[in-house]
Order: sequence, then C-alpha cells, then structure tokens
Amino acid sequence: MKRVEYLILFVICFSIMFISCEHEPIAPLPSNSAIKNNEGNSNEDPCDSDTAYFVNDIFPIISSNCAFSGCHGNGSSRDGVELSTYNSIITTADVRPFDLSGSDLYKVITESDPNKRMPRPPANQLSQTQISLIAKWINQGAKNNSCSQCDTTNVTFTLSVSPIIKSNCQGCHNGVNPGGGIVLTNYTEIKNQVVSGKLDGAVNHRPGFIPMPYNQPKLNDCNLFKINKWINEGALNN
Ligand code: HEC
Repeated sequence: MKRVEYLILFVICFSIMFISCEHEPIAPLPSNSAIKNNEGNSNEDPCDSDTAYFVNDIFPIISSNCAFSGCHGNGSSRDGVELSTYNSIITTADVRPFDLSGSDLYKVITESDPNKRMPRPPANQLSQTQISLIAKWINQGAKNNSCSQCDTTNVTFTLSVSPIIKSNCQGCHNGVNPGGGIVLTNYTEIKNQVVSGKLDGAVNHRPGFIPMPYNQPKLNDCNLFKINKWINEGALNN
C-alpha cells in the first residue's frame, strides 16, 4: 500500500473508533447496580454492629420522623419528596451511595438553619445517633439491606446448635472419613466433644486447640454465642 492509502485507512479506522465510542451507552451509575445486587439476598445476614442496615436501622427513623401524611409519605410528597419505600427514598431524597455531601437526604437533616432543616420545627432535629446511622448507611453504599437479630432467648440443641453444626461442620465431620476422626452427626457425638472440652476450644479458637471450622473464619458471633450458651447451660439434649 502507498503512504496515502495508509493514511486513508488510518483516518477511516480512527473515525469508526471515534463514532462507536460516541455511541457507547453511558455506563450505569455503579451505585445502581450495587443496590440491585444487594436487594433481597441479605435477609440471612446476622446483624453486624459495624454495618447500618436500611430495613433495621434507617427505615424506622425515616418512617417515624418524615414519612407521614402531610409530609413525605402516605400519599403526601411535599417538594416531590416521598419517603415511604426504599426506591422512593433513594430517588426523591436524592441519596447518592458513598457520597454523603452529595446526598440531599443528609444535607437536609444536618442543615443548621432550622427553617431549611428536616424535620421542620416544631419537630426536633434527629438525634446525633440517628444522623450518624444515616451517614454510615450512605457511606456504606445506601443499600437495601437487612439483617436478622440474633435471637438468644431460647437456645436448645435441636433448634439452635444442631442446625449450626449441620451447616458448618458436618461437611467434614460425618461418618465418611471424618476430620480428625471426629464425627458430629448426632447429640451423643457432639456431647462427647463438649465433655472433652474440644468443641469449646475449637470453635472459640482457644490456644492449644485446632481452630474450627478448619481453615475457615470463626463462626459468626450469633452462632458462637448460641453454642457457648448451650454449653454453659449444660449441653442438654433439649
Ligand atoms: C473443612 C473441613 C472441616 C470443617 C468444616 C470442620 N472441621 Fe473440625 N476438623 C477437621 C479436621 C481435618 C480436623 C483434624 C485436624 C488435625 O488433626 O490436624 C478437625 C478437628 C476438629 C476437632 C478437634 C480439635 C482439637 O483441637 O483436637 C473438633 C472439636 C472439631 N474439628 C470440631 C469442629 C466443629 C464444631 C466444626 C464446625 C463449627 C468443624 N469442626 C468444622 C475438619 C473440619
């Protein structure tokens, strides 16, 4: 090819690239996809004290302080702001995941001028704890997340301990080639490991014991609490 032909080819290629780039769809906000991925699948998560949860923490604050008739809920949407669902909170209060100062919701609750602040006087400003929770939630991505509180009132072998062992331990401690020769498939086998002190030592990662689950993180706080409570109450077959 002659030099001119190269030049023409180059120009054509370049224009194609340029045109196709121009028509590239605008990438969706990362926040939106993050929110979608988190919808609905977090119900099983035990509550973690470092996380702010929309369903457990944020929604109760908003619905009791803002989302009522005449304000921002129950058919009322003053200034276009409607706060009775997750989606309407995100869109109409302009919540921007990971962007505190860009989020209208945060701006209005921290506004120093009482006439601009939400909730409006005579209602009190939200407490510092409530404001901090909302800030934490936005900084953590303003997800539609929830968690289940650890219910430790009625800990029994059948309802609490057995399901934990089943899902976290029996994969290795079953009748076929059990880890360390230890089988944990029924009450008696599990109780034996309580009596030997090994169950407590292993799950609590105490010195001198092999930490369990093997090569995996510790059981979550809730499960650990239940096992420990059950052991402390005599490891009954209840
Ligand atoms: C991935 C497989 C695996 C899982 C999951 C697992 N274990 Fe183990 N476990 C082992 C192996 C392998 C050993 C023996 C390790 C050794 O002897 O080096 C062992 C040993 C133990 C011991 C003896 C510890 C000691 O210090 O002597 C206890 C008790 C135990 N496991 C309980 C549990 C409990 C309870 C769970 C669930 C919370 C669990 N294991 C989950 C593989 C597993």
